[in-house]
Order: sequence, then C-alpha cells, then structure tokens
Amino acid sequence: MNICLNDKIFEIISEVVTSEKVKAFVIGGWVRDCIMKRDHPGKDIDIVVIGSGIGIARKTARRIDPKIKVSVFKNFGTAMFRWKDYEIEFVGARKESYERGSRKPVVEDGTLEDDQMRRDFTINALAISLNKETYGEFLDPFEGTSDLKNRIIRTPLDPDRTFSDDPLRMLRAIRFACQLNFTIKENTFISITKNAERIRIVSQERIIGELNKILMCHHPSTGFILLEKAGLLSIIFPELDNLKGVERKDGKAHKDNFLHSLKVLDNIAKHSENIWLRWAALLHDIAKPVTKKYLPEAGWSFHGHEYIGSKMIPDIFRKLKLPLNEKMKYVQKLIDLHLRPIVLSQEVVTDSAVRRLLFEAGEDIDDLMALCEADITSKNETKKALHLENFRYVRKKLKEIEEKDAVRNFQPPVDGAEIIATFGIKPGREVGIIKNAIREAILDGIIPNEHEAARKLMIKKGKEIGLTPP
Ligand code: CTP
Repeated sequence: MNICLNDKIFEIISEVVTSEKVKAFVIGGWVRDCIMKRDHPGKDIDIVVIGSGIGIARKTARRIDPKIKVSVFKNFGTAMFRWKDYEIEFVGARKESYERGSRKPVVEDGTLEDDQMRRDFTINALAISLNKETYGEFLDPFEGTSDLKNRIIRTPLDPDRTFSDDPLRMLRAIRFACQLNFTIKENTFISITKNAERIRIVSQERIIGELNKILMCHHPSTGFILLEKAGLLSIIFPELDNLKGVERKDGKAHKDNFLHSLKVLDNIAKHSENIWLRWAALLHDIAKPVTKKYLPEAGWSFHGHEYIGSKMIPDIFRKLKLPLNEKMKYVQKLIDLHLRPIVLSQEVVTDSAVRRLLFEAGEDIDDLMALCEADITSKNETKKALHLENFRYVRKKLKEIEEKDAVRNFQPPVDGAEIIATFGIKPGREVGIIKNAIREAILDGIIPNEHEAARKLMIKKGKEIGLTPP
C-alpha cells in the first residue's frame, strides 16, 4: 500500500472514480510533501480527474456526507470541499496551463500527461493513481522523484514557457527553494532573470502570499537573496532593494544595510514564528538610505532612521497589500523603538528611563528586546558580547521595575472621570493637564503607581491651575 494514500479519503475517492469509470490521481503538494516526509501545515489535497472534476467532487462529497457543501468554480472546471482537516480540490485534467488565481478561464480537456507538463515544477507534477486496478501507481514522466531526491527546482517544460503561463511561478520557485532548502536549476533560474519584468502582470495579493511564505522560512535570507539576484526584488519591493550597497568616504565605510537586515531577520527567525516580528526585523532599517549623511568628524550617520522608518511603514504596507491594522502599528512601534534599549544600555540605566521604555513598549517589550538582540550582527565577538551583556542588564532592570511599578499595561491610577467628579468640572483641557502630570510623575518615579499618591498629586496640580474641590 502506498503510504501517501494512507487515509480513508483516498479509499472513498477510489470507489467513486472506479464505479464512475473515470481515471483520477492525487497530484501536487500532497504527493511532494508525502515523499519528502514533510509535515505540512495545511492539508490540501489536489485531485486531477481525466474528465469532469466537478462531477467527481459532487459524487465524492455525497458519498461522505450529503450535507457537505461543495464550492464549484465552473469557469475553471474545479470544485472543492472541506472534510475533517482536509481541503480537497478536484480539477479536470487540462491541456492549458494550470493557473490557480488567474482570471482567465482554462477549460480545454487533456490527458494526465498534458496536465502534468503544464504544472509549475517537476516536484509538483508527481501523480499517484486512485483507480482500483492501478491504485498507488506513481506517474512521474518528468523525473520529479529524482529532483526531490537531489533537491532541485526545475520546470517540466522549457522554463520560459512555464513562467510565461503564470509569472507568479518565478516567485514560487524561489519560495520553494527557500522553504524546502532546494537549489533552482541553472536554466530555470536564468529564465527567471530573463522574465523578471513579467512579474508586473501578477496581482499584488498573489505576490504578498509568496513573500509572506518566504518570510516564514527557517532561513528567510536565502529567499530574499535569490529575489535580488533574479532582479525581482527591485520590482516587487524597491524599498528593500534600496538598502543594498556600501559607500566609502575618507576610508570609512558603512555596513551593507540589505545584508544586515537579512541577518537580523535570520536571527529573529531562529527565535520566533511571529510573522509581524519578522516583518519588523526586515524593515527596521528601511529609512537608512533616506537619512544617510556623511559627517567628516563622526563618519556615517543615519540620524532619526527609526522614526522616519516607522513613518514609512503605512505606505509600504499599503503598496504590498499587508494589513493596515494593529499588526501594522505593532511593526511601526518596534521600528520606532528599536534603538532605545541600545541607547539605554550605553548610558547609566536609570529607573525612570527603564520605566519610560516599558510604558511605551507595553506588552511588546519582550519582542522589542528580542529584535534588539537580533540586531547585534557585529563580527567583532568582544563587541557583541559586551552588547549582549548590557542587554542582560537592561532585561534585569526591566524585570525589577516591572515587579515594582507595573507600568507595562499602564492604566492611570486616577482617571478622567475621577478628576471631573473631584473638581466638579466639565471634560476639557484641565483634565488633560492633570492626567499628564500624574503619568509623568509616575514615569519619573516621583510618585508610586498607586491611587492614593496619584490622588494627592491631582489635588495639588488642580490647585496650581486654579481648581478646588467643591
Ligand atoms: N500549480 C501550478 N502553478 C501555480 C500554482 C500551482 O502549476 N502557479 C500546481 C502545482 O502542481 C501545485 C498545485 O498546483 O503543486 C497546487 O498548488 P498550491 O496549493 O498553490 O501549492 P502546493 O504545491 O500545494 O504547495 P503549498 O501548499 O506549499 O503552496
């Protein structure tokens, strides 16, 4: 028994297609991941039917449970339904290119081999028969199994043709190389370089899907380096491409901020699966090119790049079609604050500076510290050890202050409503002045983060601005 068919669903499909006298095969990612023994996060099963994919989808669903809802995409000759953890998609074999996500209807019927040759890569074109007489038989006309073994990404046809059918496949090649730790075959990669401009016709929604997958690889820098080499990065992500290069003046050079950002990203990837933390790592120095200055005395300066960088994020997110919500704000916040722990560790670490950092970073303080540690990419081991030692000290201080003052989730101990009620005033400027004074006093450590102390200060501050309790 073929281990890739070790699931009830294949038995059911087999019964249906055998009794309907049509041929069907499981194909694509399921087969690839099964042979690689790769634990796949989602469980997508692609079934190719020599005949009507839609008809077989309906019949299979009915056999499992008549209540299952089958979604049909008539224009594309596909249908899918969900069952248990699976998302099962049925498609009729086609002569034309397999373009998922394209708006162009593709309907011409073909043989299994026609279908396999119009898929993206040999490793995604492996099929296993589901019919009773040939159950479990491998159909691998393009040597995909051997490419899997040798860890090679290669198109079944002339790559120019495969990429012209669907230019997103250029990004998919790089994403698979990064995700699976494979090498893109030379002529396939040359073709990507040649056809890079064609990526412009692909929708941004599909592009960002691939970029996010690259970002979630174990070693995401591999993907970005390939994107750059292929000439795709400057088209799909010019701001990142702009970080490339080193300038030298009076014998002083700054670091290559592209390579540095990728190193930081790889460092954070070892530490966290949080995609937004990974975006923050990739973009933390995004404003270095626009803030770069050479000062004869001090050398290269990127003054304010953290602030300007955080301001660049909404535009970048909008263009990339990333969400413009609290995830974006989180990325902005981390970029804006990414120098603070370093500055802090270089100065005398006062309680009030630590308290302010905790107040501003709030719940994200641990992610910020992780980002700052990932940001230390110096090759000088002594320097690196010193920075890390300083950070350990900042972390210790953060813990102490947090235990004492609890400012991570700062809620003012006296709120606006209490101020209004105490002085019998209307909401307005005075309320803001008093609230602000209380917050500042707590952050500076002048009063503890407690109600009684805050109330006393409220009365005092009120008096100063001419308010008295009635
Ligand atoms: N496919 C293709 N060209 C594309 C997209 C998909 O030829 N642009 C084919 C491939 O045979 C692929 C199958 O459709 O294996 C399923 O596509 P998809 O679900 O996007 O990818 P998977 O290979 O399943 O991999 P992953 O789930 O990691 O994206």
